[in-house]
Amino acid sequence: KHILLLGPPGAGKGTQSKRLAEEFGVEHVTTGDALRANKGMDISDMDTEYDTPGEYMDAGALVPDTVVNAIVKEALTTAGGYVLDGYPRNLDQAEFLSEITDLDAVVYLAVDDDELITRLTGRRVCEACGENFHVEFEPPEEPGVCDECGGELVQREDDTEETARERLSVYEENTAPVIEHYREAGVLTDVNGEASPDAVFDAIVDAVES
Ligand code: AP5
Ligand code: ZN
Repeated sequence: KHILLLGPPGAGKGTQSKRLAEEFGVEHVTTGDALRANKGMDISDMDTEYDTPGEYMDAGALVPDTVVNAIVKEALTTAGGYVLDGYPRNLDQAEFLSEITDLDAVVYLAVDDDELITRLTGRRVCEACGENFHVEFEPPEEPGVCDECGGELVQREDDTEETARERLSVYEENTAPVIEHYREAGVLTDVNGEASPDAVFDAIVDAVES
C-alpha cells in the first residue's frame, strides 16, 4: 500500500502513521524525522538561504525542495509500501511526488487551529525512542519520563507557541493548496482529526481499505 497522510502541524500525522505502518506492514516515511536527524547537515552548496535544515526548522519555515525531494526519492525507492507523513508541503513537491510514485490512498486529517496550538505546545517527545506524549491528552505515567523506554521527555524546539503559529501560517500559504489539489483530483478522504486517536485510526483504516 502507498498511503499519503496530510494535515496541518499537530493534526496527528506522526501518531497515526506509526500505527498505520504497523497495521499494513509498510514503512513510515517522514520528512520531519529525517530532517530532525540531519538538522546540522551542510547544504550551503545548494545555494539556499540558510546553511542547514535546522535553521529553517527552528524558524518554522520550509526546508528547500531540493533537499526534501532528495530525501523522499531515496526513501520511497527503498520502501515497498509506505505511509508518507509531512510531504508534500507545497505544489512543487506534489508535482515531484507524482513523478516518482503512485498513491493508493490520500487522507486529510482536519483539526481546528486552537486545538492544533494546544496539541503542539503540550507535546513532549522521548529523546531516546521518539515516542510522542501530550501533557494533557496523552500524559506519561510519570511526568517527564517515557512509558516505553524510561527516556527523558523533552519539548521540540519548534513547539513554542510563537513558532507553532508561524508553522500554521506557512501551512495555510503553502500546504493548504496541496489539499485542494488532491480534493479536486477526487482522491482525497476527509477524516475528523479531532476525534480520539483510536477513532481517527479506525477512520483512516476504513479509507485505506475502501
Ligand atoms: P514535521 O516534523 O513534519 O512537523 P509537522 O508537520 O509540523 O507535524 P508535527 O510533527 O508537528 O505534527 P503531527 O501531525 O505529526 O502530530 P502528532 O502526531 O505529533 O516538520 C517539522 C519541520 O520540518 C517543518 O516545520 C519544516 O521546517 C521541516 N519539514 C518537514 N517536512 C518538510 C517538507 N516536506 N518540506 C519542507 N520542509 C519540511 O500529534 C501532535 C500532538 O497531539 C502530540 O502530543 C499527540 O500526542 C497529540 N495528539 C495526536 N492525536 C491526537 C488526538 N486524536 N487527540 C488528542 N491529542 C492528539
Ligand atoms: Zn522512549
